[in-house]
Amino acid sequence: MVNKLKDIAVKTAIKYIKDNSIIGIGSGTTISHFIDILFAKKKNIKGLVSASKISTNKLKKYNFNIYKVNKIEKIGIYFDSADEINYKMQMIKGGGAALTNEKIISSIADIFICIIDESKYVKNLGLHPVPIEIIPLAKKFIIKKLLYIGAIAKPRINTITEHGNIILDVYKLNLYNPIKIEKYINNIPGVITVGLFTQRCADIVIIGKSNNTVSVIHKKS
Ligand code: 5RP
Repeated sequence: MVNKLKDIAVKTAIKYIKDNSIIGIGSGTTISHFIDILFAKKKNIKGLVSASKISTNKLKKYNFNIYKVNKIEKIGIYFDSADEINYKMQMIKGGGAALTNEKIISSIADIFICIIDESKYVKNLGLHPVPIEIIPLAKKFIIKKLLYIGAIAKPRINTITEHGNIILDVYKLNLYNPIKIEKYINNIPGVITVGLFTQRCADIVIIGKSNNTVSVIHKKS
């Protein structure tokens, strides 16, 4: 069960779906609820591209049509949540370890709609650790490269990604310039995906608020 704030944000997000379209979805509790509402509202969609086995299994349970990423040229809208998002629409994602697929699928979408409760809308990114998916044998080397920029990386326990890799949760990263940090981490050999989304930002953020209202904010061009 998701909190009320996520619920009202999800119900607003669903309204953006166009009839007979193929949409993309991420993973996590918000998206799990999104799938329930999609089914309950009997939305007329052609199908979905999903970023995780958990989301896919739930979609199968409801008999939704599922498309493989490699079979699709483009998606109209990608729906997902985030661990944090700032006013520039840059995000930290990967709390659910699905960041690699989420980055790929959101990158083939025209529009990224991020659905959150108000606690995740922050002035500056960085209170939440930044997840990184890495090749296991590069662990020690990558931890050292992160220490070099003052960050502390901790392997996430009992977590193997769908690609057979591990996750490092990175604390104390200086995210004054998140674009630079995303590039720095992306360039470390052995890094598969960094959970900073500064190139593929959200286009629209839908925020459920404690006063029972929903804010919809569009990215400034
Ligand atoms: C998964 C994610 C999720 O979107 C993020 O962790 C938020 O999750 P939730 O919807 O459970 O609050 O990035 O990799």
